[in-house]
Amino acid sequence: MNTLVNAYRDAYRRAHEDPEGFWSERAEALHWERRWDRVLDASRAPFYRWFTGGRINTCYNALDRHVEQGRGEQAALIYDSPVTGTVVRLTYRELREHVARFAGALAAQGVGRGDRVVIYMPMVPEAVVAMLACARIGAVHSVVFGGFAPHELAKRIDDACPVMVISASCGIEGQRVIPYKPLLDEALKLASHEVGGCIVLQRPQASAALTPGRDLEWSEALASAAPAPCASLEATDPLYILYTSGTTGKPKGVVRDHGGHAVALAWSMEAIYGMRPGDVFWAASDVGWVVGHSYIVYAPLLAGCTSILYEGKPVGTPDAGAFWRVVSQHRVNALFTAPTAFRAIKKEDPAGALIGRYDLASLNTLFLAGERCDPDTVHWAEEKLGVPVIDHWWQTETGWPIVANCRGLTPLPVKPGSASVPVPGYDVRVLDAAGAAVPAGQIGNIVIRLPLPPGTLPTLWRNDEGYRESYLSRYPGYYLTGDAGFIDGDGYVWVMSRIDDVINVAGHRLSTGAMEEVLAAHPDVAECAVIGVADSLKGQLPLGLVVLKAGVTRPHPELLRELVDRVREHIGAIAAFRHVAIVARLPKTRSGKVLRATMRAIADSNEYTVPPTIDDPRTLEEIAEALRALGYAGPATSR
Ligand code: COA
Ligand code: AMP
Repeated sequence: MNTLVNAYRDAYRRAHEDPEGFWSERAEALHWERRWDRVLDASRAPFYRWFTGGRINTCYNALDRHVEQGRGEQAALIYDSPVTGTVVRLTYRELREHVARFAGALAAQGVGRGDRVVIYMPMVPEAVVAMLACARIGAVHSVVFGGFAPHELAKRIDDACPVMVISASCGIEGQRVIPYKPLLDEALKLASHEVGGCIVLQRPQASAALTPGRDLEWSEALASAAPAPCASLEATDPLYILYTSGTTGKPKGVVRDHGGHAVALAWSMEAIYGMRPGDVFWAASDVGWVVGHSYIVYAPLLAGCTSILYEGKPVGTPDAGAFWRVVSQHRVNALFTAPTAFRAIKKEDPAGALIGRYDLASLNTLFLAGERCDPDTVHWAEEKLGVPVIDHWWQTETGWPIVANCRGLTPLPVKPGSASVPVPGYDVRVLDAAGAAVPAGQIGNIVIRLPLPPGTLPTLWRNDEGYRESYLSRYPGYYLTGDAGFIDGDGYVWVMSRIDDVINVAGHRLSTGAMEEVLAAHPDVAECAVIGVADSLKGQLPLGLVVLKAGVTRPHPELLRELVDRVREHIGAIAAFRHVAIVARLPKTRSGKVLRATMRAIADSNEYTVPPTIDDPRTLEEIAEALRALGYAGPATSR
């Protein structure tokens, strides 16, 4: 790492050579009810734990600590909702009061330490209150993104086995009001697990029908609730479970603990994002994703910042100037979003004319993550905003950035297309298929040497074996990220693509395997494949190729419509599944493996190699033809 200097280099070296010393110093920034016995507990390696024996409460550190230290009148959360025409500012004191009371309401319903609570809510302050209230009493929240359909919600309910679900009467997508309660009712019907009860926030835009004896209105639950104190929790107690897409239809329950998470997130705000207490941070994401958990809710509050909760879109609410209006109105210092949001803005306002209408003097940095960032988007944002544009790479599993240009340590030159350098605490390597380190500049599997730093997943929910199998077994001693890329001669990491069947649609991680399961369940489908194809706005889009059962004579347009509807109904609108073609057969190897990567290359008009093991090379031409009919597969060449 020849060009990396000063604070960054020192922190990196220290975290590498003396992780226990490094992280115990970072932990001093928080309030511990009891100090830890061990900083890093390797007694069950490769299952590592941080700060064992310590007692801490995340909610106390995110709210009460700041109130007690004189930050009570500062805004903790600013809810800005162009879709309802609302701006609400909650100080640390007010947010603590709301959270303590709602925690009391949960406790009154019998929710206690270790109980799971599923939260299926839109971007309203009550979603944040519900998360922090769970943290306060030691209940384990599992937030499910509102764009997921009842089947997906049901899968998560069956895995987490919650005692309670918290929801709202509706979400608002641009001009559309989307009733959530019927989706929840359907999910509860589909799930085998029986929840004890539901608390439902009635929003003025839609009224939810409640099931007597099971459902309680948010306001009713609060009516007689007394504020609950912060529970005394083990640092290693679970704070939340967040489900993410794997290669199959079964989502993976990423577990986060209290202690290590609070330590890592609080430090990341200063070291990576360069934020100080009192600064205004805006992660334009959704609380249903990891970015929302970490950088709308926990990290800004742990660091004493003001966090923006934005219920709107980058475009259409009302226009492509929405982000600039929010930045100028709330004096936002750092904005964090997905490249897709910028591509959407750029598409509608290519000259950046709307940017000039707002005073953006407060903004000092734009952070991008969630998907590979194309250099064009970086250049456009840099030119139009005049601030550093920082791409950084992480995933639900890690909970905070793995590779970044640490603005609070030593800002490094930006190389568009690279997320910069490994964050202190992460030992990032690139290995070949045999497990050997590849030379600089050569592509391979990106892995992280164990142990992972605090804040990352200790395991999957009630599934140690699944954790081992998915992440630890491929290269013993390393965590498999599932991404491929390379490290250049300056130590910059370039994350290029996934090595599995996970795709990234508008910064949302989705499983093609899950979509294949839905298509394959259609009575007329014999077999199918779903691949991710390049899209200039959303980065990738799913595309289905379906082989029908012999004798099916139904009109194809009708069938195609049904297939599209099925994915929307089973997975959700967020899958953006619109393209599907009926083909005579799928290209396969002689052993029967479907050649998805080759089909992807054909769809994206990339050069591809005809695998020597292919069963019948003519299938590739047939697939290319079907893809061309959908507007994909240009003049790709095979080698
Ligand atoms: N509840 C219900 N439905 C939802 C939803 C929610 N919380 N979020 C999205 N949807 C629906 C949308 O309404 C849309 O439905 P449609 O097919 O009926 O139009 C569908 O899911 C796809 O949503 P989205 O990906 O948001 O696409 P869009 O066309 O509405 O908007 C962008 C395009 C680029 C503006 C949008 O994708 C975007 O803001 N991307 C940034 C993503 C981001 O911030 N990711 C966070 C990761 S860091
Ligand atoms: P998620 O778990 O939904 O946050 O998705 C994580 C995945 O998104 C990573 O494994 C990458 O494939 C991709 N990703 C996230 N950030 C970046 C980035 N900055 N550059 C490239 N890919 C990214």
